[in-house]
Amino acid sequence: MANLQRGFDFYSWLTFIAMNSPADGEVIGQGPRPGGDARTKWEDLQNYRPLADVMLGDGSKPVWGKRDVPDECKPMDGAGKIIFRLGEEAFNQPFKTGPLIDQDGNYALFDILMNKPMFDYIVDNGLYSKQGQEAFGQTVEFPTGSNPGKDKTTGADLPGRMGAIMVKVSYRILDPLKSANLINQFHTVDALIYFPGGKATKAGPACVEKKLGLIGFHVGHKTAFAPQWVWTSFEHVSNAPTVDDVANGNLLPRYNFFSAACKTNCPAKNDTPPQPWDPDTSLKFKANYRSQVVRDKMIPGFVQQEVTDLNRPFRATLKGTVWANYMLLATQWPSAHESKTDPLGAPAPTYLANTTLETYGQGRVPLASSSCMACHGNATTQHVPATASDFTFILEKAQKAQ
Ligand code: HEC
Repeated sequence: MANLQRGFDFYSWLTFIAMNSPADGEVIGQGPRPGGDARTKWEDLQNYRPLADVMLGDGSKPVWGKRDVPDECKPMDGAGKIIFRLGEEAFNQPFKTGPLIDQDGNYALFDILMNKPMFDYIVDNGLYSKQGQEAFGQTVEFPTGSNPGKDKTTGADLPGRMGAIMVKVSYRILDPLKSANLINQFHTVDALIYFPGGKATKAGPACVEKKLGLIGFHVGHKTAFAPQWVWTSFEHVSNAPTVDDVANGNLLPRYNFFSAACKTNCPAKNDTPPQPWDPDTSLKFKANYRSQVVRDKMIPGFVQQEVTDLNRPFRATLKGTVWANYMLLATQWPSAHESKTDPLGAPAPTYLANTTLETYGQGRVPLASSSCMACHGNATTQHVPATASDFTFILEKAQKAQ
């Protein structure tokens, strides 16, 4: 089992390096920005599309490559800037379990993207609207990847094919004054954050520009071997200390979501901020609240050891670049993908959480703690009655076609 886990974790690192290589084809860590940073493959609109450009507000058919810029953002728009639509999901964790507040008092932000095979499947089957999902009437099954090979009957060469890949990322806001010396420690992106107005936000439509630093990186990849997908999760090394680090006083001077200096009246460990959760255009949390996040033990000791041993050489290879500051948490994979009794395929390890994306689901409590596959296995379409959506919550975002 340890060897198999290692194989998946190795795969996760290769995925991380491939996806975070510069969009223009250069080598990872050799881009033009501080710390060798550059716009990555998954930020290139030819490779991946944000969810907001797929599940459109009017339920209409999305077009690959079309970038929808709200009017309020147009004056600030420029090459390489990402558009971030601040719906509830952009600052609240799964099932509204709460936002995460960094040590500068800013909300952490979340975004979702998908690759072209996943987009094509949604478009070809009309799954981009509620009515389309109702009419579909079949089992949702996103395409799996395959290696190049030979056709069994004709012997002709068959090209390899990319399977469906979906990404969820988390960012912290880099305040230009406070974080000037931090910029070269993160992969950064210039974001235009659009506030649609209405319920989630008090102000009307508005657009603000912020520099964001990448702090968390989830990948779900559908492969021929893993119909339950393979689940990869990385995060920035200075997000939060582990429970052992806290107990041993083995602390870094600064974390994104933990204060070592706070001794009295600190927020409870891994507690949610007080309500209300409604960011205005400052994106600062109203109360003087700072999340106090600690990394709980999630995975078995032998897996933790194996991942720690794997992170070391990969991070050493990336030394001197922004990418050396990211670590693999682990890969969750189906250890019995053809099981007749367990549709989840016996996830290994049982639990996995990212401190920035499932902050409030950490630990090893059966049925309560975070399992990528167990939670995503509950995702459905909007067909009545609901049908399984093949481990993705993306289809729940489709709107009614007008
Ligand atoms: C408690 C349930 C839960 C757990 C546990 C969970 N997720 Fe998710 N995940 C969600 C929800 C809900 C969304 C959609 C959130 C949104 O709309 O922003 C989501 C979104 C995603 C997406 C974007 C595609 C999609 O389905 O919307 C990826 C990729 C992802 N999660 C990966 C992971 C990984 C990797 C893990 C484990 C380390 C994990 N998730 C654990 C509930 C969960």
